[in-house]
Amino acid sequence: MKGLLTLENIGVNKVQEIIDLALEFKKGKKSVRYPNLKMATLFFEDSTRTNYSFQSAMLNLGITPISFNAKMSSVNKGESLYDTVKTFENIGFDGVVIRHPQNRYFDELTGITKMPVFNGGDGSGSHPTQTLLDLVTIYEEFGRFKGLKICIIGDIAHSRVAHGNAEIMKRLGMEVFISGPDFFVDDTAEVISIDRAVAEMDIIMLLRVQFERHKDAMGMNTNEYHQRYGLTKFRVERLKENAIIMHPAPFNRGVEISSDAVEHKRSRINEQMTNGVYARMAVISMTLEGKL
Ligand code: NCD
Repeated sequence: MKGLLTLENIGVNKVQEIIDLALEFKKGKKSVRYPNLKMATLFFEDSTRTNYSFQSAMLNLGITPISFNAKMSSVNKGESLYDTVKTFENIGFDGVVIRHPQNRYFDELTGITKMPVFNGGDGSGSHPTQTLLDLVTIYEEFGRFKGLKICIIGDIAHSRVAHGNAEIMKRLGMEVFISGPDFFVDDTAEVISIDRAVAEMDIIMLLRVQFERHKDAMGMNTNEYHQRYGLTKFRVERLKENAIIMHPAPFNRGVEISSDAVEHKRSRINEQMTNGVYARMAVISMTLEGKL
């Protein structure tokens, strides 16, 4: 299947090619247009950034974007993902972006469509364009990956962002650590304390506590979570020099991250959102050019 489902089978040179193209788009050094194409975003889970960032990327490439409204569609009549995707192909779409709560939902679509499929996030599996925009942001800041230390902090177990990011970051030569309470960490990487992370890391990446995926699993109130595992006002002043703060957003201010950290001069959260558009432009155009 064309498009981008996960980064697992994409080599580091190809990943670097995507990053370089995204930065060329950002600097205005490159512009390509694909008029007369239309693509749909099929989101079976809520989204603000990913959905509209993909649509913004499409518009920048001259592609017409359409939002599929799952809540007002035949999905409510029991129509499957397979039949929904086939419908978009039959009515003349040239590509779809899908976000779905099931891990690897795309396995059931293999071989059924000629349209490119772009994964906008599968359950707790991966979220490849989020990973790419994170990599664009890191590369823009440091100009390299090798030897950089990152700690991903928070709800690792339920996070597609953590799993996808850790996999490719290790391949790119970064040192990856995770941090959080026992019930949120898994075997993604070595577990360290948030205070060690703040003192030693080049990149502190916070993750949202995914309240919608586990009700009441924390066993503590949000204030206690913030004090024990969050990037508090106190901790943000102790970051290593030149370290940056990242978060895929949406964030819970005062839970995993303090407002002071969101607004801090070392925060790159706004850049991440901006870079998402360019990373998605790179992915879509490389797919349409047969380079992905
Ligand atoms: C993330 C997601 O949905 O995977 N957000 C995003 O796409 N920017 C992370 C989250 O919801 O916590």
